[in-house]
Amino acid sequence: MPQPVLEAMQNHLQLEAEIGGYEAAAARKEELDAFYQQLAAFLHTQPHQIAYAHQATQAFNTALSSIPFRDGDVILTTYDDYVSNQIAFMQLKTRFGVAIQHAANLPGGGVDLEDFERKLRQYAPKLVAVTHIPTNSGLIQPVETIGQLCAPLDCWYLVDACQSAGQVAY
Ligand SMILES: Cc1ncc(COP(=O)(O)O)c(C=O)c1O
Repeated sequence: MPQPVLEAMQNHLQLEAEIGGYEAAAARKEELDAFYQQLAAFLHTQPHQIAYAHQATQAFNTALSSIPFRDGDVILTTYDDYVSNQIAFMQLKTRFGVAIQHAANLPGGGVDLEDFERKLRQYAPKLVAVTHIPTNSGLIQPVETIGQLCAPLDCWYLVDACQSAGQVAY
C-alpha cells in the first residue's frame, strides 16, 4: 500500500476513535467530496457515475446483482477472466439458468476478437464481461475494441479493470 494512503487511513481511523465516525466524516467532508471529483476526472467520467466499493470482488458482484438475469440469458466472457468473477457466473448459472460462453483464445494468448464477434452475434448475450488485465500473466485484453463491438447491441458490458486503473494509460 502506498505510504500516503496508509497515512491517510491511519489518520482518519485515529480521528474516528477520538471524535466518532459521523463527526470524523463531517470534519473531512471537503476531502471526501473531492474523492468523487478526482476519481471521475481520473476515469474520464462524471462524479455521479462513481459507486465506491471496498474491494474489486464486492464491486463486481454488486454490478452483477443489478442485472435482471432470466433463465436462458447468456454471459459472454473470456478464458482469462478473474476467477472470482467466473465463480459468480457459475452461481448465476445455478440460480437463474444463465448460460456461460467463452470466446476462444488466440494461439499466442489473449482473446480472439473474431471469435468474440462471432459469439456476440450467435448468442446475443445479456452480459459481456472481460477482465482488462488478468491477475498475473501480463496479458492486456482489447477491452476498448470489445466495447465498440458491444456498443450497438442491447447488452451490458462489464470490465474488471482493477489491475489496470492507475497502472496503464487509457
Ligand atoms: C483482475 C482481478 N479482479 C479482481 C480481483 C479481486 O480483488 P479484491 O481482492 O479487491 O476483491 C483481483 C485480485 O487480485 C484481480 O486481480
